[in-house]
Amino acid sequence: MDSQENCTRYGFILLITKFLFIFIIIWNLTTYCILENDYNNNESYEINSNNSDMLVNQKYCGSNECRFLFAHRIPEQESQANSHFYSFIQLAEMLNRTMVLVNVQNSRIGACLELPYDFYYNVQELKKLFPNVNFITQDDFLSWTKERHEKPDVVFRRIQQGGEPNTIISDVSPQEWDNVINNQCLEEFDFKFDDQDVSLYKKLLIGPKKYWRKYNEAMTKFIVSNLEHINEEVLLIHPYEVGGAYFPSKGEVIPLPYATHLIEAAKNVSSHLKPYIGIHWRQETINSSVLPNCAEGLIKYIKELQLKTGIENIYYATDYPLYNGGENAQSSTFHILTREHHETMRMLNSTFTLKTWVSLKALDGLYDILPQFKDYITKELSGSGLAGILDKLVLVDADYFIIGPRGCARTSSNFTKKIYLARKLLMESGNKDIHNDIDHW
Ligand SMILES: *[C@@H]1O[C@H](CO)[C@@H](O)[C@H](O)[C@H]1NC(C)=O
Ligand SMILES: *[C@@H]1O[C@H](CO)[C@@H](O)[C@H](O)[C@H]1NC(C)=O
Ligand SMILES: *[C@@H]1O[C@H](CO)[C@@H](O)[C@H](O)[C@H]1NC(C)=O
Ligand SMILES: *[C@@H]1O[C@H](CO)[C@@H](O)[C@H](O)[C@H]1NC(C)=O
Ligand SMILES: *[C@@H]1O[C@H](CO)[C@@H](O)[C@H](O)[C@H]1NC(C)=O
Ligand SMILES: *[C@@H]1O[C@H](CO)[C@@H](O)[C@H](O)[C@H]1NC(C)=O
Ligand SMILES: *[C@@H]1O[C@H](CO)[C@@H](O)[C@H](O)[C@H]1NC(C)=O
Repeated sequence: MDSQENCTRYGFILLITKFLFIFIIIWNLTTYCILENDYNNNESYEINSNNSDMLVNQKYCGSNECRFLFAHRIPEQESQANSHFYSFIQLAEMLNRTMVLVNVQNSRIGACLELPYDFYYNVQELKKLFPNVNFITQDDFLSWTKERHEKPDVVFRRIQQGGEPNTIISDVSPQEWDNVINNQCLEEFDFKFDDQDVSLYKKLLIGPKKYWRKYNEAMTKFIVSNLEHINEEVLLIHPYEVGGAYFPSKGEVIPLPYATHLIEAAKNVSSHLKPYIGIHWRQETINSSVLPNCAEGLIKYIKELQLKTGIENIYYATDYPLYNGGENAQSSTFHILTREHHETMRMLNSTFTLKTWVSLKALDGLYDILPQFKDYITKELSGSGLAGILDKLVLVDADYFIIGPRGCARTSSNFTKKIYLARKLLMESGNKDIHNDIDHW
């Protein structure tokens, strides 16, 4: 009886095991089929329908999905573009998008330019400022669009000062649309978009400067809430007449850190000249008939300062063209030179031994450090860009920093403001070699 009972029980367990086994096989097969089905169903994998695209995304973004912020067009010179680019990195962080490190050249940041971002800026230091943001070089971003089987989709947005604060407008004139999609070098990238589809472009109005700076948190919320639900893989964004950094309520704007080769070139100058007086004279927009008079004022002021302090060395920075006997002005927007401009230069040069980035050959070392960019360096030196950054760094380090009074010089420049702010910070941190933040002669 006992053994028969055992036998029945054994058969029962065997039966259950068999069922369980068959059940597991069927269950696995079903799951497999469902997954396969999902893969072939292009609607549920709209973005990355092609498996190889996931690999491409993995390669460039470290993730199956890529989402980029591409601030491809910043219509400002370096000092102002620097603040705007900083703001766009903050935005990339808020939107969790990878920031494209847009190319640079001739004192500008923009997709059409030929030099990599790290020609001007220090990417390692930038990553320390923004540990939560992923970055990609413009070159790699370009390769990503090329390698993708299914081409990435895009939208265009513009952040525009003025208008009714925190509203969106979609009405775009054919002329504006043309400006947005043409002459921006977008054709280099393999994007997928219909160039007739004006609805891809929207303007985010943030109101007058006084307004958006005062109610900055509301403005930030408006921008983020309108951009965070964008599904397109590439967000192309540009500023329009926005003065200054966008998100002051998120903390102080730190200047984008400059490349080590530029910092080093400036240190070489500064240690060679210390102690020295730094003069910046921005002549663009000033009626040149007043310049010789202004030069007399400057000469008198500097002579007194030299007498008072015993400092001999003078570093002179100006938008008057110093390089190659004055072929190009140092500001890319400064074009008309008159007899008075040259006379002013002669007056100063015959009174003082002016040290400039040209007379000190301060940037010649770059030819050895960056031989692959030889021709570009030559182009930069006869334009703006490198020299402007070097001047800024050398002036920040000067014992005294002197600029022209109203009427003699363009006084409200972002370039000057950046130097003044940096010097103020150094003085506050107890640097004893900086004796004033800024003075007018
Ligand atoms: C789905 O993909 C197949 C090829 O993989 C294609 O033939 C078909 O048109 C696609 N369907 C849709 C709705 O995109
Ligand atoms: C940010 O994006 C990455 C990649 O697309 C994703 O893995 C991550 O979860 C996102 N983080 C947040 C906070 O949404
Ligand atoms: C996926 O992309 C690869 C590489 O571009 C291509 O060879 C292949 O045909 C694509 N497959 C499908 C199903 O579209
Ligand atoms: C900096 O430049 C922007 C745009 O060119 C301008 O709106 C702003 O007023 C400038 N800031 C100063 C201090 O000049
Ligand atoms: C510059 O100033 C002179 C003398 O005041 C005047 O005659 C001339 O028209 C001015 N030039 C410009 C471009 O404003
Ligand atoms: C200043 O004068 C020196 C000679 O005394 C000359 O070599 C130099 O080119 C002059 N600089 C400018 C900017 O004119
Ligand atoms: C700075 O000076 C050192 C020593 O003279 C030199 O080797 C180096 O190339 C200079 N750096 C730059 C960027 O000019």
